[in-house]
Amino acid sequence: MIAIEPLSLPDRRVTSLVTLSLKEGFNFLDRLDADWANGENRFDARGEILLGVTDGAALIAVGGLNIDPYGTADCGRLRRVYVTPSRRTNGVGAMLVKTLLDHARAKFRVARLRTDTERAAKFYERLGFRRIDDPNATHELTLV
Ligand SMILES: CC(C)(COP(=O)(O)OP(=O)(O)OC[C@H]1O[C@@H](n2cnc3c(N)ncnc32)[C@H](O)[C@@H]1OP(=O)(O)O)[C@@H](O)C(=O)NCCC(=O)NCCS
Repeated sequence: MIAIEPLSLPDRRVTSLVTLSLKEGFNFLDRLDADWANGENRFDARGEILLGVTDGAALIAVGGLNIDPYGTADCGRLRRVYVTPSRRTNGVGAMLVKTLLDHARAKFRVARLRTDTERAAKFYERLGFRRIDDPNATHELTLV
C-alpha cells in the first residue's frame, strides 16, 4: 500500500535511491544525504518537512520543503523531489508534491523551485506552477 510519511536520515532506503539517482546523472539526492549529515539542511525549521513515499517496505520517492533561502520569509522551496525510475508516470510525484504543497499552505504564500530538466518543468507546470524569470528559481506557484 502506498503511504506518505515524514523521513529522517540516515535511512538505508534513501541510500539506495541516491545510488539510482547518481546513475541517472542527478546529484541532488546525494546532497540531501550530505547536507543532513553535516547539519546544513535537516528540513527542521518551522514549516519545513522532508517526506518519503513508501510502497510496503520500499521507498519509492522523496521530496522536501524548505524555507526558500533566496526568497522572503513567506516563500517555501520544493527540493530534492525524486521518484524512483521504475515508478514514474504513475502519479507518485504528483501525490508527493500535492502533499508538500498542502503542508506549505500553513506557513508560506508562494512555493518556488529550480529545475534544469524539461521533463520536470512539464511535470510542475501540470501541477499549476508557472515559469518565472529569476536567477534562483525556474517555477513558482501562489498558494491559496
Ligand atoms: C519529475 C518527476 C518527479 C515526476 O514524477 P512522476 O511520478 O513521474 O510524475 P506523475 O506521474 O505524478 O505526473 C504528474 C503529471 O505530470 C505529467 N508529467 C510527468 N512527467 C512528464 C513528462 N516527462 N512530460 C510531460 N508531462 C509529464 C504527467 O503527465 C502528469 O499529468 P497528468 O495528471 O495529466 O497525467 C520524476 O520524473 C522524477 O523523479 N524525475 C527525476 C528527478 C527530477 O527531475 N526531479 C525534479 C527535480 S526539481
